[in-house]
Amino acid sequence: MDANTFIEEETKKLKEAIGEEKAIVALSGGVDSSVCAMLGYKAIGNRLECVFLDTGVMRENEGPDLKEIFAKVEIDLKIRDVRKEFFDALKGLTDPEEKRKAFRDTFFKTLRDAVKESNAKFMIQGTIKPDILETNKGVKTHHNPLEQVGLDPGKYKLTILEPVAELFKPGVREVGRALGLPEEISERMPFPGPGLMARCIGEVTPEKADILRKAHIVVEEEIKNARLKPFQAFAVLFEDRGTGIDKEGNRNFGNIIAVRVIDSKDAMEGTATDVPMPVLKKISERIVAEIPSVTRVLYEITGKPPATIEYI
Ligand code: XMP
Repeated sequence: MDANTFIEEETKKLKEAIGEEKAIVALSGGVDSSVCAMLGYKAIGNRLECVFLDTGVMRENEGPDLKEIFAKVEIDLKIRDVRKEFFDALKGLTDPEEKRKAFRDTFFKTLRDAVKESNAKFMIQGTIKPDILETNKGVKTHHNPLEQVGLDPGKYKLTILEPVAELFKPGVREVGRALGLPEEISERMPFPGPGLMARCIGEVTPEKADILRKAHIVVEEEIKNARLKPFQAFAVLFEDRGTGIDKEGNRNFGNIIAVRVIDSKDAMEGTATDVPMPVLKKISERIVAEIPSVTRVLYEITGKPPATIEYI
């Protein structure tokens, strides 16, 4: 695939499909949706609305950071605070598929509100090939390929366009670079649509999301400091607890965090990265120091398969 030919062809297809109507892209901050935003903007300019839904399970400062990045390419990103809707919908849910379903339903409900306001008739979505392959295999109910999971886009009065659906991650990155996306986006680790929820076992609460956000920063920073370039690196929060001793010498039955660092080409298969022990220890020391409720940090060593990359 030649990235420039791909961009030309997909821009043309988007232009033809959308005509004189408006379209919307929900930006997650990942490379897939960012490429969609750039392609959409190239195709229809300001008739494209880019929206960031702050679901409460996104990375630290994600919305404002993205707004700044996209302002540089003249895209005015709108941030919608929908945290309450998401935490309400996820309240009491512990089953992974129920959580995913609640997330997906809330995502489309809140997106529908954004769509209504924008008058968009089309939504450009960053579905990529592994999303489709894995959904077909029944590995997981990804919220991306709408029709495959039995959601009728007609019900939402929206036509879904998926310009990168035939690409794997390396291809999307190549297109991102050719589109002039900054490196911090084009080379960014994948981040799932359902965000930190995919790394939160059990009920998802604002407090648990905060723990995951803080732990994620530590993992990302230390992996970067160690000049490692894994496919993904992140923190997972368990429901179980383990005893530790806090600074005052009191016993604390605290949270357990798992660190997941994985090498993979395209997310279909992967192996745990050989992260040097001193780096892992640094991660552990920082996490327990920066997040007092955490008493233990584990390193995950399972490959994919049999494990998936995310935890739910
Ligand atoms: P799994 O956990 O299935 O993940 O091995 C494979 C890749 O997909 C990402 N992922 C998702 N991406 N929506 C997304 O947009 C999702 O629901 C979702 N679930 C997993 C995951 O981060 C990994 O790169």
